[in-house]
Amino acid sequence: MNHWIPVCALTDIPVLGSRRVARDRGPQVALFRTSDDRVFALLDRCPHKAGPLSQGIVFGDAVACPLHNWTIALDSGCAREPDEGRTPVFQVRIDAGQVLLDRQELETIAIDLAPVQAGPCTRVSC
Ligand code: FES
Repeated sequence: MNHWIPVCALTDIPVLGSRRVARDRGPQVALFRTSDDRVFALLDRCPHKAGPLSQGIVFGDAVACPLHNWTIALDSGCAREPDEGRTPVFQVRIDAGQVLLDRQELETIAIDLAPVQAGPCTRVSC
């Protein structure tokens, strides 16, 4: 059973942009908003060399990593061919204009990896 916690308002995420959410442990979570207001959440860590995906360019259903331009699918976290690898994905729910993430996923997914140094970050308390 999911235990959803609000992390920000939908309008806090720029269209075709991102927002970062810090956890108590592990890399931050990057929230991405598409041009049609869908929101996806990925670990803010490229599967190539851990680049901050939140600083990349969002286009369609993907983000281009700012370091070496790998393209990562927002729905699966998978690198597009010919590249390989996958960034962990977090479930997202939108309710009354609020973006919610699952508490258990925030507390367990990739928590042993080092946080990525990048831009400003909202902290979420689980
Ligand atoms: S670190 Fe993302 S493409 Fe290299």
